[in-house]
Amino acid sequence: MIKIPFNFLQNILFLMGPQRAQRFVLSNIDRWMNLGFIDPYIHDLMEDPIELMGLRFPNTIGLAAGFDYEAKCVSGLGGLGFGHIEVGSVSEIARPIKKCSLRRPSQSVACSEGIACASVERVLENLKSAAAYRNRGGILGINIIGEICEDSKKTSEAFIAPLRKLYRHADYVTLNLTSGLSRGFSAQYKGQVALTLKKVVEERERLMQTEGLPYLPISVKVAGGQDNDTLLWLADQLLYYRFDAIVAVGGGVGIAGERLSGNALKDRSIEVVRLLSNHLQGNLPIIASGGILTPDDALERVNAGASLVQIFSGLIFNGPGLVAEASDQVACWRQTQKGVMKSLRPSSASF
Ligand SMILES: Cc1cc2nc3c(=O)[nH]c(=O)nc-3n(C[C@H](O)[C@H](O)[C@H](O)COP(=O)(O)O)c2cc1C
Repeated sequence: MIKIPFNFLQNILFLMGPQRAQRFVLSNIDRWMNLGFIDPYIHDLMEDPIELMGLRFPNTIGLAAGFDYEAKCVSGLGGLGFGHIEVGSVSEIARPIKKCSLRRPSQSVACSEGIACASVERVLENLKSAAAYRNRGGILGINIIGEICEDSKKTSEAFIAPLRKLYRHADYVTLNLTSGLSRGFSAQYKGQVALTLKKVVEERERLMQTEGLPYLPISVKVAGGQDNDTLLWLADQLLYYRFDAIVAVGGGVGIAGERLSGNALKDRSIEVVRLLSNHLQGNLPIIASGGILTPDDALERVNAGASLVQIFSGLIFNGPGLVAEASDQVACWRQTQKGVMKSLRPSSASF
């Protein structure tokens, strides 16, 4: 298969604008994968399984929430080599896609505040797209977003109602505490957040006891603009309620108040991973998100204390090859750390 330079394809996609390009890629990726068009951009991965949250992740690299928010083509995207894919955000009521612009020179994405989300029903309908991926050992996360407001009952129900419906369909669930805002939740709502965390854990226990369901790992995602004191407070809550991981960070705050991703989020993402890593001392896994645009960025997050990393903007600016390259770079480093170079037995890049 001839390899068309990624820059050329990227120029065409950028001409379409972000929303149309996203729709175009998501509607066609399964077909391109089956026809072998993607093969020249990916390669066989080194084996690098990692046990985390009671799950076996095939490698450290995941797709961040929002890219395939309706779970339309999980297996197609999985073919790029992702060890885990987080779909959503999902909520009881769908919210339309937000206006975003791509800042090509700085490799950043700027969106208006708020996050588009899919309805639970839509994601449940689409989840058959994940079957092949999960059969191959890929890990499926579902990201639930709920509005954090003054009303504690309303806040916790916004997370618990989708959790009940999605429980049987995910390998893990992420509670997205950003409410779609890059500054995260207001410190005055700590009580509502703490109660929600408690209720979510109780609901999981209830589902296990009354319906015989297995333990479902639950992580929590925080915003890049959340202040450090609140982040550390939240980390303590997650330890107290025995959550399974923290995802840091979602979008950061731009000068004009927009939600920034990509390179513009890089420094804050590293800062937060370091802050959490020092505070948590290995007692809660960290999943890094934000500004991971190159294999070195992925390695830097792992060095800073992350167990897994998630890519979003990197896929847009640097193409599908980034997944396997980042996975291999981290795998090499981890194996060197272990002092044992495993045999480089290729396993087709097909998670
Ligand atoms: C257009 C867009 C939509 C997003 N939608 C979601 C979402 O639905 N849920 C979520 O948790 N994060 C969402 N995010 C945040 C990403 O998952 C990721 O955390 C963030 O973009 C930082 O990673 P990056 O710098 O690699 O892009 C979205 C980001 C962008 C740019």
